[in-house]
Amino acid sequence: MKKILFTILLASSFISAQYTDINIVKEVKVKNKGVVVSAHPLASEAGAKVLKSGGNAYDAIIATQYALAVVYPQAGNIGGGGFLVGVKNNGEKFTIDYRETAPKKASRDMYLDKKGNANTDLSQNGRLSVGIPGSVAGFFATSKYSKLPMEKLIQPAIDLAEKGFAITDQEANLLNASKEYFQKHNKTSNAFVKNEAWKSGDILIQKELAETLRLIQKFGLKGFYQGKTAELLIAEMRKDNGIITLDDLKNYKVAERKVLEFEYKGNTVVSMPLPSSGGILLAQMLKMSGYENLEKYQHNSTKAVQIMVEAERRAFADRAEYMGDPDFIHDKTLYLISDEYLKNRWKNFSFTQATPSSDVGKIIKQPKESTETTHISVIDKDGNAAAVTTTLNGLYGSKVVVSGAGFFLNNEMDDFSVKPGVPNMFGAVGGEANSIQPNKRMLSSMTPTIVLKNGKPFMIVGTPGGTTIPTSVYQSIVNAIDFKLNPNISVNSPKFHHQWLPETVAFEKNFPENTISNLEKIGYKAERWGQLGRTEMILIDDSGNIHAVADGRGDDSVAVE
Ligand code: DON
Repeated sequence: MKKILFTILLASSFISAQYTDINIVKEVKVKNKGVVVSAHPLASEAGAKVLKSGGNAYDAIIATQYALAVVYPQAGNIGGGGFLVGVKNNGEKFTIDYRETAPKKASRDMYLDKKGNANTDLSQNGRLSVGIPGSVAGFFATSKYSKLPMEKLIQPAIDLAEKGFAITDQEANLLNASKEYFQKHNKTSNAFVKNEAWKSGDILIQKELAETLRLIQKFGLKGFYQGKTAELLIAEMRKDNGIITLDDLKNYKVAERKVLEFEYKGNTVVSMPLPSSGGILLAQMLKMSGYENLEKYQHNSTKAVQIMVEAERRAFADRAEYMGDPDFIHDKTLYLISDEYLKNRWKNFSFTQATPSSDVGKIIKQPKESTETTHISVIDKDGNAAAVTTTLNGLYGSKVVVSGAGFFLNNEMDDFSVKPGVPNMFGAVGGEANSIQPNKRMLSSMTPTIVLKNGKPFMIVGTPGGTTIPTSVYQSIVNAIDFKLNPNISVNSPKFHHQWLPETVAFEKNFPENTISNLEKIGYKAERWGQLGRTEMILIDDSGNIHAVADGRGDDSVAVE
């Protein structure tokens, strides 16, 4: 049964335990309690229960991610990767980069045919599209900051996989729509394909995944990167054109990187550095629109949107040219986010007309649109905060399920620039900085972000959405800070997206039409998109009230400890 509570819960009385009873809670206001916001109510609950049993924000974020790997198979994962941004209550800031890496046998032109044409079907689907998964290593790296034993944090996920849970409408629709791809890429049976169509309330049981999680519970990191699970993953590679080896798995390492931080209107924004472009783009966009005093204009008015679109245009042109794995390229972050550079970049902005994309970067080619990832925002009662965005890249990743182990593998290799100028599945183009090399991390757009006010968490925010991630996070932040909108409206009001190429600006379908037509008159080309992002926001006001909002665009849900 599905019960949707759209009301604001002013107390932390949300209790639901049965996996057939899916309670979606969209907004909560509490004090002195921990909260978890994620894409699925059962995953948020798993995190909140951990908080209740004495865990901190980092315990909760681990438990929530394991649970998402079960209840949100389209994007939650152990076969993908992600980024965590954390701020502890003693002020310590840290990130964990558990982005996938290219296999050792990967090479710059691996997706090009003899004539040099890119075959993006291979970078986007099937075994050759898979990067070395980083998620499980990421969970273990996070446990340096958590309190409870890993065996305990993984148990809710095991129970959910073993006993099953009722799927939502959205999950049923996605599983049905993906059936032909699952069948194309998997010759053996798996939990995600059945003869009749899935419908809301059907129970999804994942016995093989439960067993894989048990191996992690018993053997730790080695339960995934070595032994039975690793061998099953390699056997899966051998069925077709996969190139990941046992050594690749054994050698996978997370990277703990210094946070990317900058000041914005008296707040400190703490976000993810390279190999995610997210933090840099966010800094560039906020600073450039700040030069026009964005707060003077009205939310989603013509001038406000124009300023923001032009900031997005310039930032995404830089993404294509300069950004990649900092362990492989010259990292220009400090220059790219400096006022010296950005003020100069902003010089050709004009209210009278759209800036042609060719005026802000080297034009190359045509894009298209996005699919799935997922974000979690957590704060505990002691003020520790965590923001995680994690992904398989596309919806259900490569669509390949590791036979015998029950989990989807990512198709993250497509986030590399497979050939200069050839767009990836999000239409992002790139060049040498993001070219494929063995062991290199592919450039990301994920933007898990924590905004601090007087050194304490004020906002914890992030979203899925491929290249629309940084622009959605940007808009959610200015909605709250510049336009002073409440967290619900900051998240749920219609958004827009521009990424330099293509020249078009995408507007969510309920976006104010008069703003769109005013922009069209001065040279902007508009496109209507269904939805942009699934933003999970926690905002802590000056009195210590915690407002948590789960995006209304999906089954996203808040849980309180
Ligand atoms: O890392 C990235 O930027 C992409 N792989 C994220 C993919 C994504 O957000 C898909 N979701 N809607």
